[in-house]
Amino acid sequence: MDRMASLGVLSSGIAHEIRNPLAGIKAMAQTLEEELEGNTTHIEYVERILRQVNRMDNLLKAFFSYAKPKRPDPSAVHVKKIIMEVMPLFERKMRDENITVRQHYDNDLYKIYVDINQIEQVFINLMINAFDAIGRDGTVTIRAENAKYPQPLIDRRNRVPNIFSNRYIQITISDSGSGIPAEIREKIFNPFFTTKSNGTGLGLAIVYQIIKEHGGQIEVKSWPDKGSEFTILLPAAMEEVDFIE
Ligand SMILES: Nc1ncnc2c1ncn2[C@@H]1O[C@H](COP(=O)(O)OP(=O)(O)O)[C@@H](O)[C@H]1O
Ligand SMILES: [Mg+2]
Repeated sequence: MDRMASLGVLSSGIAHEIRNPLAGIKAMAQTLEEELEGNTTHIEYVERILRQVNRMDNLLKAFFSYAKPKRPDPSAVHVKKIIMEVMPLFERKMRDENITVRQHYDNDLYKIYVDINQIEQVFINLMINAFDAIGRDGTVTIRAENAKYPQPLIDRRNRVPNIFSNRYIQITISDSGSGIPAEIREKIFNPFFTTKSNGTGLGLAIVYQIIKEHGGQIEVKSWPDKGSEFTILLPAAMEEVDFIE
């Protein structure tokens, strides 16, 4: 096993061992929180402990999904269905921070052929970043359309060789946020790269890993102070094989 791989095994082992005592701390803090009800000064300390414990736990969870990626288990699903699953997580933030989310779906949009849980994670990570970049008052726009990249692949028998080799769905998520400075644009997909004081730098690394495992692509464009746009290509699920005459 090479050095990086064994380091990965070692660190995910340690991360795993940290989660048990962390769960213990969390359980005790929650009990204390219940018993302190009414004592406003002390309850705030306990709430702070819980917030930090949750933060650590989320970091460990993110680390696991990066260090131990799962193989996608794909099925045919509408993009819209996945977005609808994800939206409720952001409703509170949309209200509190006055952020509008717009959605546009092509008519006759093909389904995508993906692991639903993993692609949910992709949209969650991208939406969190969009909300972070906006802060307050802005818009996130999600757009999905059929795309063909690259030119259709045709095999010797003039038949499309593979149900998802040549047809893709293009999904863009754009925000009216701060934008990404040109000098860091190369680094944003690197694990642990973050510009946030409480960031993990794992969100986009996980997104990149998942998209790559799906045979997709991701690109980013950004305009300082105007916003950013992430474009994803994911394989379409074609109900029937196309024959080319
Ligand atoms: N939509 C966005 N707008 C502006 N900057 C972004 C956006 N998405 C990502 N970034 C930049 O990329 C960095 C890495 O993102 P990510 O991997 O999700 O980690 P984190 O969100 O924990 O910092 C962020 O810290 C931020 O600087
Ligand atoms: Mg993030």
